[in-house]
Order: sequence, then C-alpha cells, then structure tokens
Amino acid sequence: MSKSIFIEHANQLITLKGKSNSPRVGKQMSDLQIIEDGAVYIESGKIVEVGKTEEIKKKLGGKLEGIKHIDATGKIVTPGFVDPHTHLVYAGSREEEFNMRLNGASYMDIMNNGGGIHATTFMTRNASSKQLFNESKRRLDQFLLHGVTTLEAKSGYGLEWDSEMKQLTVAKELNAVHPIDIVSTFMGAHAVPKEYKGCPDAYIDLIIEEMLPHVAKNELAEFNDVFCERGVFTPEQSRRVLEAGKRLGLTPKIHADEIEPYEGAELAVEVGAISADHLLKISQKGIQLMADKGVIGVLLPGTAFFLMTEAADGRKMIDQGVPIALSTDCNPGSSPTCSTPLIMNLACIHMGMTPAEVLTATTINAAYGINRGNEIGSIEIGKKGDLAILNVPNFMQLLYHFGMNHTHTVIKDGEIVVQ
Ligand code: NIG
Ligand code: FE
Repeated sequence: MSKSIFIEHANQLITLKGKSNSPRVGKQMSDLQIIEDGAVYIESGKIVEVGKTEEIKKKLGGKLEGIKHIDATGKIVTPGFVDPHTHLVYAGSREEEFNMRLNGASYMDIMNNGGGIHATTFMTRNASSKQLFNESKRRLDQFLLHGVTTLEAKSGYGLEWDSEMKQLTVAKELNAVHPIDIVSTFMGAHAVPKEYKGCPDAYIDLIIEEMLPHVAKNELAEFNDVFCERGVFTPEQSRRVLEAGKRLGLTPKIHADEIEPYEGAELAVEVGAISADHLLKISQKGIQLMADKGVIGVLLPGTAFFLMTEAADGRKMIDQGVPIALSTDCNPGSSPTCSTPLIMNLACIHMGMTPAEVLTATTINAAYGINRGNEIGSIEIGKKGDLAILNVPNFMQLLYHFGMNHTHTVIKDGEIVVQ
C-alpha cells in the first residue's frame, strides 16, 4: 500500500476536470479547469482531495501531520502524461536510414527495398527476450523522465507468430516491473513480412486464424491495429483484420491516411475504432465522420517532423469537432523519440494547436484514446495518483520554452518515481 502524499501551493494545478465522461472536443479542449495555489491529497495510490491549498488543509487538518508534503510553489502540476501510440518494444536502431533520407531516399522506398519496418523486424526477431526487455526499458525510463505515466505499446516488429508474441510478452513483463503502466496493442498487420511478399492475403489469414485468437485467449493485448496504407494493407484487408479482432474482443485502432489519402479514417468510423492515428492526408469526409462518431484522432507531429513532411492539420480537425490526442509514435523509423514535451512543442508550431489544447491532447484525450478516461488523464477525486510537477510557473511557459524537459517530479500511483 503506498503512503499518503500532500502536494501544496501549486502555482497552477491543471486538473482537466471534466463536465462529462467523454473526450474533450472543440472549445472544451481549451478548458483546463485550473486551480491557482492548488493542492492534491493522495492516499493509497488514489486522488482523495483536490482544491485550493488552504481549503484542503483546513478540511484534512490532522490527517496531514507526519505525511509526505511536496511544496510546488512556483511550479505547475498536471496529470501524468499519457502516450496512446508507441512502438516501444523493438530491437536495434536505423540511423543509417535517416542518413539515406537526408540524401533524398523516401521512407516508402527504403521500406520497399527491404529496410524500414523490415529492418527492425529482422533485428527484433533475432533479439532475445532479455535484450528486447533491456532496450525497451531504456526507452520507458526516458518516457518517465519526461512525465509520462501511462503508454500504449504495439507489437508489429515480429510479423511471425513467435516474435509477435515475444514482443507482447516483453511488454507485459515491463508493465509488471516498471512504474509506467503499459497498455498493449497487437499489430501483426504492421507490414507484409518478406516471407509473404506478393501474397498479403495469406498473411492476413494467418493473423486472423492463428495470431488473433492466441492474443485474445491469453489476454496479450486489448487493441488491434493495422497499417492501412497503399503498398502495405488495403482498406479491405485492414477491415478483415479489425473485424476479426473485434469478434474476439479486441478494440480496433488504425494507422490511417499517413502517406496518401486512403479512406483510413472512413474505415475507422465504419469498424467502430477507438482512434484513427496519423491522419496527415485525411479527407474532408473522414474528418466529418470522425467528428460525428467521436472517433479520437491521435496525431503524431514527431513523425511528420522526422519524415520532413507537412504535419496533420490538427487545427482544422479540432475546429471541426474531432477529439484530438497527441502521441510520440515512438519507433525506430519515423519517430525515434520518447520526448512528449517535444511532441507538445511541435503540435503548437506545426499544427496550430494552442498550449491548452496540447495539454488536453496529452492527458485526458490521450487517456480516452486507450480507453482509460475514467481512471487517468485528469486530477479528480477517485482517479489514480499519477501526476507530473513541472518547473514552470504557468502552463504556457511549458510550451514556450521549447525543446526542454521541465519535468521536476513524477508521481505514479501515489509514489514519487522521479525527483
Ligand atoms: O507509426 N507507419 C507505420 N509504422 C510506424 C513506423 C514504423 C517504422 O518505420 O519502423 C509509424 O510511423
Ligand atoms: Fe505508429
């Protein structure tokens, strides 16, 4: 049982308290529900009181004696950041491809010539579980230092039964020992493996008939994702995989409309996906449908930045009512970063999102993007004691001083895990 903690005198306590149990849309994304000179009392890992410091002190009285106090004077306190889209578990790195791209090669050309996802698949297949665990843990440690307390992690660098399960098992093992909570996604349909070149449907059959049932039966993942992109999986193939997962209880997610418009957002709505991710090339119809159905758009500005392409139009999607979340897309090819603050900066500069919208997109909306909106993502009574204390006097400075890590203290389940 974790001990009690009292955080007091936060210059701004960014609560993101909701008026409804749903992701924030439109103008709601700017409503951070800030308490000045705020305090939070956490007991047994859960938030028990939230309010003005003097009011909470009066209310709790002697209960606060002898427990851990954290003075957040001059700082802001936010919910721990949530990353709803990472490819955390993989082996190796691909810096030589970065160099090739700087010399003019395209991301898809590299992949179609056996590099890209295939290169990481080769390294991940050949890595022992221990190596995969250690390499991925280093990334998790980085996420934690940047204030992230929950993240989603996908498989998809195995592309064969054993290696896909190895990735998902490593994610489970990391979840068991690391302060960060990991929510798993099966992404066997991340690329057509080289063994199935020219016959992607046979690989889809393998996913549907063998991999998905095993993943569901052994509770290795909650979500099922697919890379729906010309040259990877068609909307029809993607639909088959996502519908098959749904029948087994796995919630669909989609890598949609990243490189070309391909009706990925439309498919996300059709299959009832919790989110459609990337969306650089989303159609106007796709935006409208996602807004109507409340499908969360997970935007990944680090990927556009690193692939040197124009970012998704976050501004337009927010203005048209799509609930927007942000993520690193942490992966070795298109976004090798664990820096949520950098993603937040890029969302302001390259997507026209405001600091307030960015905070909503990395906390409560991100939590809804992995079906955790009732547990995390805001500082509210009954939610997990997951908080970041940031060394800036107001939330706008967090985004204004770009490229810096302002994280001062991280609290996970009521325990101090970074200080
Ligand atoms: O989300 N788009 C597909 N998958 C990853 C990239 C994976 C890789 O290049 O290794 C992404 O960007
Ligand atoms: Fe991705």
